[in-house]
Amino acid sequence: MKTLKFFLFAFATLLISCGDKALIVTEDVKPTLPAQPYDYDNLALPVGTAPAGSTFNQFEFINGVPVVITKKTEITPWGATLGRVLFYDKKLSLNNTVSCGTCHHQDKGFADGLRFSTGFEGRVTTRNSMAITNPIVQNNLFWDSRSKNIHELSLQPVQNHIEMGMENLDNLVQKIEKTDYYTELFKKAYGSEEVTAEKISMALSQFVGSITTNRSKLDIGQTNNFSNFTELEMLGKSIFHSETAKCSGCHGGNNFSALDGPNDPYGGGGGSINNNDLRGATNIGLDLVYADNGLGNGNFKIPGLRNIELTAPYMHDGRFSTLEEVVDHYSEGIKPHKHLDVKFKDNLGNVKPLKLSSLEKKALVAFLKTLTDKEMAANPKWSDPFRQ
Ligand code: HEC
Ligand code: HEC
Repeated sequence: MKTLKFFLFAFATLLISCGDKALIVTEDVKPTLPAQPYDYDNLALPVGTAPAGSTFNQFEFINGVPVVITKKTEITPWGATLGRVLFYDKKLSLNNTVSCGTCHHQDKGFADGLRFSTGFEGRVTTRNSMAITNPIVQNNLFWDSRSKNIHELSLQPVQNHIEMGMENLDNLVQKIEKTDYYTELFKKAYGSEEVTAEKISMALSQFVGSITTNRSKLDIGQTNNFSNFTELEMLGKSIFHSETAKCSGCHGGNNFSALDGPNDPYGGGGGSINNNDLRGATNIGLDLVYADNGLGNGNFKIPGLRNIELTAPYMHDGRFSTLEEVVDHYSEGIKPHKHLDVKFKDNLGNVKPLKLSSLEKKALVAFLKTLTDKEMAANPKWSDPFRQ
């Protein structure tokens, strides 16, 4: 109960701290929904991945030892439909100006194309809006990995946001209660029209959890021995997985995200010398001195790379506008930060730049673009129901 309240608090704080105070939208635009819900419960997950909680992904420390635990968000078609409406409803912000969809655009892999996003009272976020891509298989959310998964996005204190009293949370519940189109939606999702903070947050996490992708060129390639790949893409694929570039040592598995299960190199104990949970985060030497230290020591979440073509600009502060610039960083831009990941160092502890040729750089970028799922970016089930 408490957990869920915090969860909503996280979302609500984000939203209520956003928007333009002067502008109060009064017109009541209603969502347009299909008579039968879309199929949200059949998740389109990449081969070899599974929802965190149902398998290896979700773990907790018990007496210093990582233990796999079972926790699952049940996604139902009507629950996720309610979540979809909430996700795009500007009523979730204090002055009806901002929704989750304001900073998370479907056609951009749920990022927003901006370096920083403008929220409440014109205030600007301090980090780059994140793509939402298969969050249900991840053990670490937000740039500083402060949340373990979509079921408990707010177990970690929400940094980065303006404080918001419980008073406001009650206001939100009242506001939703008073909005006619929610009566039927709550009944369909939960069997009763009663609106609670818990129900709001659970529906949102069902919708967010349903955002999955497994129909990229790469996925097709995995079924036909990559006969659909060009030579350049094949070269890029081999560089990505090579011992020299080590991209897949961090952007691992078939979600190309952090390997952070209990026995994984960036997880709790596995691969590391002690039981510290590394939270799927590390330091890639973007700066000598970080203005934002992320999880600490310049460690940031190792993000998934699916749909990366759609989610520019890149890195926690959106400093790179193109994939070419990202590859240049790994090739010759890595700074000798004290906490730089060992993967980028030689035996003496000096930075070991990749020094890729221009052909190799092109190939890497071409490979990254095979991770785009155009169908996900256009599927109506994740689209804005308020758009006329
Ligand atoms: C004002 C812009 C803005 C709004 C509104 C917004 N977000 Fe975000 N979102 C961000 C930013 C910026 C981050 C990264 C924040 C950080 O790391 O501290 C983020 C991160 C996330 C993540 C983590 C993704 C990952 O892979 O780690 C999820 C999930 C998410 N947002 C969902 C939502 C939901 C649901 C809502 C609505 C309740 C919402 N966001 C509203 C800007 C926004
Ligand atoms: C040591 C782990 C590690 C290795 C190796 C690594 N990355 Fe990353 N990558 C990260 C982290 C951590 C970030 C986010 C850093 C930040 O924002 O501060 C990142 C960010 C990115 C991004 C931007 C993602 C976004 O959503 O903004 C791309 C693209 C990327 N890496 C591609 C690659 C490629 C290609 C390689 C191989 C040449 C590679 N990475 C090697 C850890 C790694």
